[in-house]
Amino acid sequence: LADGPLKGRHILVTSGPTHEPIDPVRYIANRSSGAQGTALAAALRDLGAQVSFVTGPATVPPPYGVKVIKVETAREMLEAVQGALSADAAIFAAAVADWRVANAAEKKMKKDGSGKLPTLEFAENPDILATISQMETGRPGLVVGFAAETHEVTRHATEKRARKGCDWIVANDVSPATGIMGGSENAVTIIDAQGAETWERMSKTEVARGLAARIARALGTVGE
Ligand code: C5P
Repeated sequence: LADGPLKGRHILVTSGPTHEPIDPVRYIANRSSGAQGTALAAALRDLGAQVSFVTGPATVPPPYGVKVIKVETAREMLEAVQGALSADAAIFAAAVADWRVANAAEKKMKKDGSGKLPTLEFAENPDILATISQMETGRPGLVVGFAAETHEVTRHATEKRARKGCDWIVANDVSPATGIMGGSENAVTIIDAQGAETWERMSKTEVARGLAARIARALGTVGE
């Protein structure tokens, strides 16, 4: 482990999309690459943290030097997160599917030649960020959520922070024109109890380093 301000701290990071099965060979997913969560885990590691990295099926490889816990679905991700606690901080960068298929088939669905179309029914997935934010005992001292928004970023993110009960929301504009989702750059606004702080557009690596430094400063003052 690197020497640094986060030495001796355990930090949990979720990252990537989740896959929600339709049948054994098909699934519903989203366009998250896992790039920002991966960069963040690496930056926290570089500041000396012991990192547990709970990742869905991301397109970028996980960083070295962290404990990688691979999952597929939102429900598996929640279980993995709960199993990895306790932590000094938990950062929820994963793009968790809001819904899973409630009537997923045990066997591969087949066309039967009749032209009859399948109907998917959905069930709501657990909200991992809200669940951990609202823990009555054992809550990490700092809980950070992300918010992918396409408009009115600060207002929606501020509401999200209150609704979920997390300490910070890192909000970004994922309108297709920004090229942020799946791209190498990010432009974030951080909402905390003090208000909103907007950073200029920079690489996801630089956003990760900035966030890791901000997390180190926040943990440095916990309990003072
Ligand atoms: O509600 P929304 O999906 O916009 O919130 C985004 C934040 O909540 C992210 O930090 C994401 O990782 C987290 N989240 C979660 N579990 C869900 C949905 C979102 O942890 N089921």
